[in-house]
Amino acid sequence: MHKVEELISEKDIAAKVTAMGSLISKDFKDKDFMVVSVLKGSFIFTADLVRNIDLPLEIAFISASSYDGETTTSSGNLKIRCDIDISVENKTVLLVEDIVDTGLTISRLKDYLYKKGAECVKICTIFDKPDRRKIEVDVDYCGFVIPNEFVVGYGLDYNNKYRNLKNLCKITI
Ligand code: IMP
Ligand code: MG
Repeated sequence: MHKVEELISEKDIAAKVTAMGSLISKDFKDKDFMVVSVLKGSFIFTADLVRNIDLPLEIAFISASSYDGETTTSSGNLKIRCDIDISVENKTVLLVEDIVDTGLTISRLKDYLYKKGAECVKICTIFDKPDRRKIEVDVDYCGFVIPNEFVVGYGLDYNNKYRNLKNLCKITI
């Protein structure tokens, strides 16, 4: 068995998500607004966040993985496993992630959505591990900056398990 220790409680996460939802509701007022949730990790955060956004919005899901190539530019090396089913053309997009780690996935997805015609793409993540960054990313909305540990829970997995934990935990493998 792996050792699993709490880093952030369910209560602290809920309070943060409520605050993020209020802020986003103010910032995105009067916008033709769309949430793009990055699967699988952000499904729980997205479900909580959108219920704290007091605006009409559309939701689409995308599943992608990035792999490290020779260069760490934000354009290449993105594999889309499952694409969005609603057009982003001329829309303001809130790209919702579970965690920004190296930053490669989210920056490549941001470029991808701009290429598909989005007017503006903002990045929202519940957790951020800036120590691991390989590319500079402008994170517009961040819940918690966390240390360089492998974490599970609140949607995040280790080998596809632990996503259903209500809190964020550090896992020792
Ligand atoms: P990136 O390195 O910023 O491209 O992050 C890619 C993906 O790796 C994230 O969206 C997460 O799904 C996953 N990931 C990164 N760090 C962790 C972690 O500590 N626990 C679980 N998944 C992680
Ligand atoms: Mg992810």
